[in-house]
Amino acid sequence: IQAEKAGYKHFMLKEINEQPRAIRDTTLGRVSLETGKVFLAEMQVSEKEFREASQITIAACGTSWHAGLAGKFMIERLARLPVDVDYASEYRYRDPIADPHALGLLITQSGETADTIAAQRELIAKGSKTLAICNVVGAAVTREAQGTITTNAGPEIGVASTKAFTAQLTALFLFALYLAQVRGTITAEQSMELVDELSKVPGKVEEILRAVDDQCHSLAKIFSTSSDFLFLGRGIHYPIALEGALKLKEISYIHAEGYPAGEMKHGPNALIDETLPVVCIATKDPHDPSSVLKYEKTLSNIQEVTARSGRVIAIAIEGDEEIKQLVEHTIQIPQAPELLLPILEVVPLQLLAYHIAVRRGCDVDQPRNLAKSVTVE
Ligand code: AGP
Repeated sequence: IQAEKAGYKHFMLKEINEQPRAIRDTTLGRVSLETGKVFLAEMQVSEKEFREASQITIAACGTSWHAGLAGKFMIERLARLPVDVDYASEYRYRDPIADPHALGLLITQSGETADTIAAQRELIAKGSKTLAICNVVGAAVTREAQGTITTNAGPEIGVASTKAFTAQLTALFLFALYLAQVRGTITAEQSMELVDELSKVPGKVEEILRAVDDQCHSLAKIFSTSSDFLFLGRGIHYPIALEGALKLKEISYIHAEGYPAGEMKHGPNALIDETLPVVCIATKDPHDPSSVLKYEKTLSNIQEVTARSGRVIAIAIEGDEEIKQLVEHTIQIPQAPELLLPILEVVPLQLLAYHIAVRRGCDVDQPRNLAKSVTVE
């Protein structure tokens, strides 16, 4: 087992560090840097069907559901196609209204999650074609799907999903870009730029792994005895807040909640006091006006937290001096287009959860009460 961990103390840490390769391998062979084209023939759905699709229905559980929530932003923004995201464990129990032109998309690391399989069967029974994003070739969900985008993250052993998640985000970005190309909602120039930006992501993740590990280790010293955490984000960053909270909950057993930053004043502000760590995702793509607007709103949400003596840890873009003045701790990540930022943002959150759990003496790879894949409903 020690050899399988390749020198790392835990599988989770090894898998966090494997993310640059997982993202690279998920992109490999699926894009052309020269033309910006995305190739996803493995989905086995004709371009005509993609053009005629009325909507995408995503069903997934846990971390894979968070990827789906982020995928909604990618698909709606690039391909202008409406996306519904359901918990697979809820989908089949609400007698969903299925449109024959809707496409079902199941996202699952293992491909064996019972609720996700059940949601897929419900979609098929209601006349939808289903596609899968899955990390295990030949897994149950892929056998019933029309086609699968395999996330080439390699086997994930740690119960807490890390590299499978960033590979899912990569696959969803490719899927959104592919749909946009087929549906003609994006120019060739925009495609080339986004494919080029995607190719830079693995290098940026490497940079983050090098730059923030010590800082997350030190933050763990300060915050490992906290009993509650809040994670805030807006837009596509909100699913990453949810994922940061889930990582912390499952491996450190600290109560944590992810919340949309703008919803704080509708209730949760009442929770803030000088003992509450609040992790705020406050990144922006300076070339994207909608991203800048969201960032500015998030800054005012942060001010509401600091005004009530909450202890803010901000995830921000390198060189953002404004935010440093406002908060106690800032973790910096490199700049990227808005839709790719989630892949970068989640890495420090994984490391923070990891170091806190280790300090609390928790069994990081095998948290209590959890199984790697949930094969019962
Ligand atoms: C993530 O860290 C979890 N342990 C869990 O939420 C997981 O993502 C969920 O059970 C879904 O699994 P799947 O991706 O294999 O379907």
